[in-house]
Amino acid sequence: MKDKLIIFDTTLRDGEQSPGASMTRDEKVRIARALERMKVDVIEAGFPAASQGDFEAVQAVADAIKDSTVCGLARALDKDIDRAGEALKGAQSSRIHTFIATSPIHMQKKLNMTPDQVIEYAVRAVKRARQYTDNVEFSPEDAGRSEEDFLCRILEAVIDAGARTLNIPDTVGYSMPQQFGATIANLIQRIPNSDKAIFSVHCHNDLGLAVANSLSAVMNGARQVECTINGLGERAGNASLEEVVMAVRTRQDFFQCDTGLDTREIVICSKLVSSITGFPVQPNKAIVGANAFAHESGIHQDGVLKNRETYEIMRAEDVGWSTNRMVLGKHSGRNAFKTRMAELGVQFDSEADLNDVFYRFKQLADKKHEIFDEDLQALISEQSFEAEDEHIKLVALKVCSETGEVPNATVTILVDGKELTGSASGGGAVDASLKAIESLVTTGATLALYSVNNITTGTDSQGEVTVRLENAGRIVNGSGADTDIVIASAKAYINAVNKLQSPDQRQHPQKGDV
Ligand code: KIV
Ligand code: ZN
Repeated sequence: MKDKLIIFDTTLRDGEQSPGASMTRDEKVRIARALERMKVDVIEAGFPAASQGDFEAVQAVADAIKDSTVCGLARALDKDIDRAGEALKGAQSSRIHTFIATSPIHMQKKLNMTPDQVIEYAVRAVKRARQYTDNVEFSPEDAGRSEEDFLCRILEAVIDAGARTLNIPDTVGYSMPQQFGATIANLIQRIPNSDKAIFSVHCHNDLGLAVANSLSAVMNGARQVECTINGLGERAGNASLEEVVMAVRTRQDFFQCDTGLDTREIVICSKLVSSITGFPVQPNKAIVGANAFAHESGIHQDGVLKNRETYEIMRAEDVGWSTNRMVLGKHSGRNAFKTRMAELGVQFDSEADLNDVFYRFKQLADKKHEIFDEDLQALISEQSFEAEDEHIKLVALKVCSETGEVPNATVTILVDGKELTGSASGGGAVDASLKAIESLVTTGATLALYSVNNITTGTDSQGEVTVRLENAGRIVNGSGADTDIVIASAKAYINAVNKLQSPDQRQHPQKGDV
């Protein structure tokens, strides 16, 4: 019997710490449901002490999820732990994850604490978290740059205090695979009560080694990996869930453990996260990139046709690529629509909401005869953009673009109920449209990213546009989808402006005093 490798997904917490990737409560619940369908063991839903919105999002995920453990992050402070305990009350199975920094540089410069004080805070935090749940995880932040002797001391103390998962984070992505693996093996061997806890790892990708470091740790005894869909996360991101899971699954000859995940849910979940956060997936990204299973060169194609194993080490359908099939069409009724939405984890709050999305589905089906799961996800994303505090809405867009002429766009928008119309010229239809919108909303923001992706295949596919705006240190991503990419671009720009103009009250978990 192989050991179980616990998959702890932190897309909704560390993933959300990527600049511009913040998610609403409903978006988090949708992603959590997709993770639950994939049979992820633990879902870190957020940092409840960050803001009232974060608290409510963790609470909503805790209430919605039945088959996965729901986790909330807390600094080693009573107020954070109480907030996390409160938010997780409704969970079928809950975990509190508390942390404090242990590297010399973090203890001296960030915390201004002695090592003994740090141990005191950690033990106190774990004991307090145990008042809410038996399932407590402790992380020595910046373990990758901490002294091994000190890690042994603090980890032994928190196990005695009741922590049952010890997570070793390489917070700044500094470790090398061999060295990180050796650290895990040493900790397990040196800590006298290490058999009472599961060792976990949480690796960042600053040197592109997050997955390699995680796998090295697994080879040396770690039995939980913290990771995110598409490798989303602070700075260069976290270890990518799909890469860790598929490496362990594909190389069962090598690893002494396996995950219990339904890997066929990976691709749809990746697309959902990309669409909600506005972080596109690069085409050559392992497992979930559009080219991950495409064989371009003649030699490869010939080999694959003769025997797929000549060049393929995994089957595309095992990670869900073949599920890009038509699920609904122009003639599908309300029931079929509602049923498929429920299968995708979407529940409507009211009949009016269902009717609204069904009406949009019919409009889309008129333009595009085959509707795929990805189209349905985009419809829901669009509805939740509008459900947010959207004080700016797109009413109409007219674009003139012809060879030899300067493209021109005229746009009408509603700003707090007041209709405004403006025109602009630009280098192309998209440029003219975004300039026309900017002439009305005057954000002065810098356009840091503009990208278009096909949601499915074919020229009638919906284009999904991501726009990243940056203003006064704040970064937001806006998304929009439409069969017309100029309209999708206008929707994405307006979505980003709405986010930019809404107040940001969140507190970053790792930038506080503790
Ligand atoms: O990277 C990190 O150290 C973290 C901790 C909060 C676990 O995200
Ligand atoms: Zn992290």
